[in-house]
Amino acid sequence: MTPSSQAPIPATLIPGDGIGPEIVTSVTRILEAIGAPLAWETQKAGMAAVTESLDPLPEATLASIRRTGLALKGPLTTPVGGGFRSINVRLREEFKLYANVRPAQTLIPGGRYDNVDIVLVRENLEGLYVGFDHYIPIDNDPHGAAISSGVNTRAGSRRIARYAFEYAIRNGRKKVTVVHKANILKALTGIFLETAMEMAKEYAGRLTVDERIVDACAMQLVLDPTQFDVILTTNLFGDILSDEIAGLVGGLGLAPGANIGENAAIFEAVHGSAPDIAGKGIANPIALLSAAAMMLDHIHHTDLGRIVRQAIHDVLVTDGIRTRDLGGTASTEEITGALLSRVTAQKR
Ligand code: NAI
Ligand code: MG
Repeated sequence: MTPSSQAPIPATLIPGDGIGPEIVTSVTRILEAIGAPLAWETQKAGMAAVTESLDPLPEATLASIRRTGLALKGPLTTPVGGGFRSINVRLREEFKLYANVRPAQTLIPGGRYDNVDIVLVRENLEGLYVGFDHYIPIDNDPHGAAISSGVNTRAGSRRIARYAFEYAIRNGRKKVTVVHKANILKALTGIFLETAMEMAKEYAGRLTVDERIVDACAMQLVLDPTQFDVILTTNLFGDILSDEIAGLVGGLGLAPGANIGENAAIFEAVHGSAPDIAGKGIANPIALLSAAAMMLDHIHHTDLGRIVRQAIHDVLVTDGIRTRDLGGTASTEEITGALLSRVTAQKR
């Protein structure tokens, strides 16, 4: 190893809101125990930042991510309806994090479904999340009608399709299913389908590429999730289906996600700030820990990523230690302790 590859890698750490600080503490303790070469720059965002500086996404936080190009982020609370725009969406736009990668794997056998191993690749910047969303007054009602427009571009569709196909090849996956609603949203999701299927021709013989309409896909996922390998889809459908696949394998407490762009990558859990259990010490840190394992893979420390995943398996399956969302009784502190024992056992 060259000295430079041993130098710690600067990375931004955002504890976030609600259960964020509890699970972030748990995860950084585990990363420290395995000697992950990360130099954290801790920064605020979300309600935690509003209380301090009135800005949910302070310039210091943005500057840090611009510098590091790498972040681990706790969940951020977004007020529903009014209030400020989702910080998560703003971060994706600011750093052009066009690919949202959300794996769902059976971790605990004997649950609803065994052998689920799906990776959902969601277009993260376009579609119905571009924010062309407004009310039109009718008579005396300022909210007499509501209008939303989606935008999918050929270039954006190409970029995400390329990412999904290359991801599939790199990770030894065999099939990519393009999910759309091109029978109804003929232009908006038609361009996405058409672009992906055109590009699929380049991968003939290396990947099977098929397509599904989103509603049929949602049903097929419940009937037999093992028929899916990689799912490639647009922003809104990806948001919905990624929660669905998380539910197939034990829920949000286990589901990680990566937001990948050209100049930055932000890793986070799929779940939100869980205000209902914040501060109670019972949050499951495993979703964020799995996101940290994806981050280790991303910075080419796949050996460390493997140690983390093995420890998660050992704790959940061999030790049977689980938090309440998984039907267990362990607190965040207890499961963190178990994970720490399991990572240190591997290092011996
Ligand atoms: P949520 O994911 O925070 O919670 C849904 C349910 O799952 C709750 O019952 C919660 O207790 C449970 N849960 C979530 N994570 C858990 C964990 N690690 N361990 C144990 N139980 C867990 O979704 P909700 O309630 O819809 O959103 C709360 C806030 O989070 C909102 O302000 C929302 O905008 C924000 N949010 C932020 C996200 C992010 O920062 N990436 C993603 C999703 C929501
Ligand atoms: Mg979501």
